[in-house]
Amino acid sequence: MSEIIIKTPEQIEGIRKSSQLAGNTLKYISDFVKEGVSTEYLDQLIEEYIRNNNAIPAPLNYHGFPKSCCISLNNVICHGIPDEKTILKNGDILNIDVTTILDGYFGDTSTMFTIGEVSKEAANLVEDTEHAMYLGIDQVKPGNYFGNIGFMIGRFAKGKKYSVVYEFCGHGVGIEFHEAPQVEHIAPKNSGPKMKAGMVFTIEPMINLGKPRAIVDEKDGWTARTIDKKLSAQFEHTILVTEDGFEILSDVGDYDIFK
Ligand code: MF3
Ligand code: CO
Ligand code: CO
Repeated sequence: MSEIIIKTPEQIEGIRKSSQLAGNTLKYISDFVKEGVSTEYLDQLIEEYIRNNNAIPAPLNYHGFPKSCCISLNNVICHGIPDEKTILKNGDILNIDVTTILDGYFGDTSTMFTIGEVSKEAANLVEDTEHAMYLGIDQVKPGNYFGNIGFMIGRFAKGKKYSVVYEFCGHGVGIEFHEAPQVEHIAPKNSGPKMKAGMVFTIEPMINLGKPRAIVDEKDGWTARTIDKKLSAQFEHTILVTEDGFEILSDVGDYDIFK
């Protein structure tokens, strides 16, 4: 894989704007996420919001992906394709993953939502997965190893008897959708390359209640599910390495994820 790009201040400002738009898209859609709506409807609203903000939804036609965002319910780990048939129902947990291209720059972020009354183990999984992402983010500073992101996430998840998906990773982002390096969510301590100021990448752990393995749907070529049909959760932010730590470029403040 190619080298990890150190972004210029101008590029960072562009990626910050795109990441803020991606975050604001999640905040916007949070008002429409509720029991009874289809994932297709949410996808349409997301596409419209992004285009109204002079940007392009990056997933659309990316390696043939047919929709503008990914919506992954329950046992779907990631890359769920929005459709009319999938209607949100009481007890569901879901991830909505939005990636924007604004003035040529990419921002990538995702969040979980819960619908109505979810099981205690589902609610805990969602809360713990968000915490796992922040444990990873806390490792970001110049000179630290990328592997320590996955080390901290993996150690926490193991302590809670969860498993960490290793077949999908975080990634450099900004000039392109997926750049070097691959950011592993389970890794040995002090492994991998070192972080430098100006690097931009995602941290997007996928955590499972059961086994870690993913199986990609043979028919659609995208939808990745757990092999044991148990629940999976994911949160994602786009992170900049600053001189003394990190900036969460896609952070737009709090909104309600319990619907
Ligand atoms: N947004 C996803 C990520 O976090 C990638 C989705 S690729 C798509 O990397 F084609 F499915 F949209
Ligand atoms: Co990503
Ligand atoms: Co994403």
